[in-house]
Amino acid sequence: MNSTIACRKALPADVDALHDLIQAYAAQGIMLPRSREALLRHIDSFFVAEEAGKLIGCGSLFRLGADLVEIRSLGMAEGYKGKGLGTMIVNALIEEARALRVPKIMALTYAVDFFVKNGFQVVEKEIFPEKVWTDCVHCSKQHCCDEIAVVKVLD
Ligand SMILES: CC(C)(COP(=O)(O)OP(=O)(O)OC[C@H]1O[C@@H](n2cnc3c(N)ncnc32)[C@H](O)[C@@H]1OP(=O)(O)O)[C@@H](O)C(=O)NCCC(=O)NCCS
Repeated sequence: MNSTIACRKALPADVDALHDLIQAYAAQGIMLPRSREALLRHIDSFFVAEEAGKLIGCGSLFRLGADLVEIRSLGMAEGYKGKGLGTMIVNALIEEARALRVPKIMALTYAVDFFVKNGFQVVEKEIFPEKVWTDCVHCSKQHCCDEIAVVKVLD
């Protein structure tokens, strides 16, 4: 990987670049859209990958319950996929979950192989009532959801 690429916690100054990155995937139906206001409110939950001052990837951690966090808004900029950045950000999110003493980290995703390669296992979404009853019940896809649930139990 290019040595100038760094992974760090997001800052309020990243909001516009984060918004652009997430909107591009939201337009393709791969991610949920996030307003600039919501990004600013939750900026502390985001990690970003950066090269020479340019934001090239992001991911965030959302607490679903006492012992469960969810990876959200994970995406790399076009031209930066397949370079290990997604793995780098997921590892940072896992370390954050560990620091928060949260034992389980999950995601709903289409990129199943990526998560399996990062030590997650495929499970039924219904084992996460925290997710189903807070988010899925409000989602237009709730009866035809094709995303796969994955989870990693942290030691
Ligand atoms: C999915 C995504 C975050 C992975 O990040 P990345 O930096 O491209 O992934 P890495 O380079 O760390 O890849 C690690 C492994 O996962 C695999 N992988 C990457 N993207 C994948 C995908 N979309 N589906 C399945 N496997 C994938 C790679 O083949 C790689 O395997 P290898 O090491 O054997 O070659 C990135 O491709 C992306 O932004 N995709 C579009 C948005 C998206 O789908 N986000 C996930 C929402 S939960």
